[in-house]
Amino acid sequence: MRGRYKILVYGCQMNIADAERMEGQLQAAGYVRTEETADADVILINTCCVRETAEDKVYGKIGEIKKVKERHPQLIFGITGCMAQKEGENLMRRAPHIDFVLGTGKVQELGRIVAEIAAKRTPVVDVALDARAVEEHLPIARSGTLSAWVPIMYGCNNYCTYCIVPYVRGRERSRMPEEVVAEVRRAAADGYREVTLLGQNVNSYGKDHGQADFADLLRMVDAVEGIRRVRFMTSHPKDISDKLIDTIKNGTHICEHIHLPVQYGSNRILKAMNRVYTVEQYRERARRVREALPGASLTTDLIVGFPGETEEDFAETLDFLREMRYDAAYTFLYSKRSGTPAAAMAAQVPDEVKHARLERLMAVQNEISRAINEGLRSAQAEVMVEGASKNDPAVWSGRTRTNKIVLFPHGAERVGDFVQVKITQPQTWVLKGEVVR
Ligand code: SAH
Ligand code: SF4
Ligand code: F3S
Repeated sequence: MRGRYKILVYGCQMNIADAERMEGQLQAAGYVRTEETADADVILINTCCVRETAEDKVYGKIGEIKKVKERHPQLIFGITGCMAQKEGENLMRRAPHIDFVLGTGKVQELGRIVAEIAAKRTPVVDVALDARAVEEHLPIARSGTLSAWVPIMYGCNNYCTYCIVPYVRGRERSRMPEEVVAEVRRAAADGYREVTLLGQNVNSYGKDHGQADFADLLRMVDAVEGIRRVRFMTSHPKDISDKLIDTIKNGTHICEHIHLPVQYGSNRILKAMNRVYTVEQYRERARRVREALPGASLTTDLIVGFPGETEEDFAETLDFLREMRYDAAYTFLYSKRSGTPAAAMAAQVPDEVKHARLERLMAVQNEISRAINEGLRSAQAEVMVEGASKNDPAVWSGRTRTNKIVLFPHGAERVGDFVQVKITQPQTWVLKGEVVR
């Protein structure tokens, strides 16, 4: 027995997927998971830097681990992920109790680095980012038992002007379709019933290797025996093709949920963001999605307070939100990321204005989400039973194909079952219902 590890994960699903591969390597080396930082021999923080708030949380955690390390000097403490990529050695200078800093392109090196530090106790910083590297054949310790995260591509080429991701994740590179399918097959054989294909912009999958595009890949994954639900994120509105929409429509297990971040609702700001589509183009794509997939849910991301945002821009965004009627929207306060073009733009919006606008945006969206869910009252939906609800062990929590959370009282069903649920109490964020027997 080599000891115990704990991995803390911040940020997006890609970070969860990476952490599962780090965990796989630690387990292969004989480490076992612990939930307690106090008795861990290896602690990793897989970090996010998409907004300043994400970084603040990590700095807070790094500070806490200092005390753990004082009590347990043999502890190996590493920082991985996007903030590690962005800050490199700075992290070590700021917090000398860190033993290693590994960048986003070094997931496959984790096992080796930990072994090296255990033996030699010399600090390591490795944030080299090979623009083409795609890791394959790593052991994976998945975090769930029913749903598997499957990265299909790494990096981003879009350079939205507010966003740090392309700088910390490198250029777009796609896994080979047969590698993705092989991973999905293994997941199915291990009992997973749902897969979520991950990428910063899944619609541009395969443009680098030309072996298959995203629609082709979806079809291959849809055909894997044992997989009942195929999800994917994130879709960039600029290249959501008719072929892709038709593939979703004609698929068997491809879920009718599209996360299609608009980011903003005025052309002036979209242009400044370098999103490369207009409100009109987005509207046309959304219309095509709704025509082809009438029951689908559509969700989005929005950023409030981008530099130069005026009250008129904001009013247009509220109107656009009312027009689109998203099932849900993830709304963010613009956060200045140094090194990105937007950080250097004049007319940064004052904090109070940003906060006030965010409140108004959320109020409009909550009203819409509630109204859409109200429309589901008395409807039936197929729900995959995911586990007990957080607040009440007598209640199951599951999800519809459209990715809505459904809560319903326990019956004889078990985790992993697919049941028909009648919605009796729709709410803004969840649907409550009962199993149809
Ligand atoms: N590649 C995906 C997700 C990127 S990060 C996409 O393009 O949709 C997830 C979300 O974080 C983005 O959609 C955006 O809404 C938000 N985001 C990114 N950078 C941000 C910043 N500097 N400030 C606030 N929100 C940001
Ligand atoms: Fe960031 Fe834009 Fe790339 Fe998404 S598409 S990761 S928002 S640069
Ligand atoms: Fe954060 Fe990196 Fe994901 S910056 S949102 S963890 S790609």
